[in-house]
Amino acid sequence: MVASGFVRSSLVACLGGRIVGHVGISHAWLDARQALVDVAVLSPLSVVPDAQRNGIGTALVGSAIEAARDVGAPALFLEGSPSYYGARGFEQAGRHGFEPASARTPGAAFQVALLDAHEDWMTGRLVYRDVWWSHDSAGLRDPDLADLERRFADLPD
Ligand SMILES: CC(C)(COP(=O)(O)OP(=O)(O)OC[C@H]1O[C@@H](n2cnc3c(N)ncnc32)[C@H](O)[C@@H]1OP(=O)(O)O)[C@@H](O)C(=O)NCCC(=O)NCCS
Repeated sequence: MVASGFVRSSLVACLGGRIVGHVGISHAWLDARQALVDVAVLSPLSVVPDAQRNGIGTALVGSAIEAARDVGAPALFLEGSPSYYGARGFEQAGRHGFEPASARTPGAAFQVALLDAHEDWMTGRLVYRDVWWSHDSAGLRDPDLADLERRFADLPD
């Protein structure tokens, strides 16, 4: 299903007539010096427990990248595990000069997949839509934030 407005795509994985996974792609902005840029955010990603470790999450991430490319987004951002997403087309966003929407997003967790429409000047701060703030879903808060920072301490920002 592709929708306009905040939700750009909502994709499901089906197995034997049952929905076993879902990934959402929504709209955000990149506050670049030259212009405000429409970008995409991957969240949430989920696979039902009894169907995990069969490649469904990997397939959904790949489909999300394709969906973001199809709507012309120059970049797809997310907050998540660097080991999981790093092996599935994402890299640390800070390495391209991107800044997370919240200072409470550890650098290693802030990731991006650069897409065909990306140009070098398109860098700056990611700006989430209001729904992220009204649900207090940007970054993490203590004690979860402090715990993740300890776990990521050995990873480069
Ligand atoms: C993360 C999730 C979507 C992966 O789905 P999946 O269908 O099992 O993924 P795949 O089969 O493609 O990949 C499985 C691999 O991901 C790894 N993995 C799962 N969760 C992980 C995590 N949080 N961090 C790092 N790796 C993770 C598994 O260990 C497995 O590794 P292996 O291949 O070496 O055995 C699923 O575990 C899930 O729904 N988790 C709960 C919700 C969640 O954490 N969503 C992500 C939020 S950013």
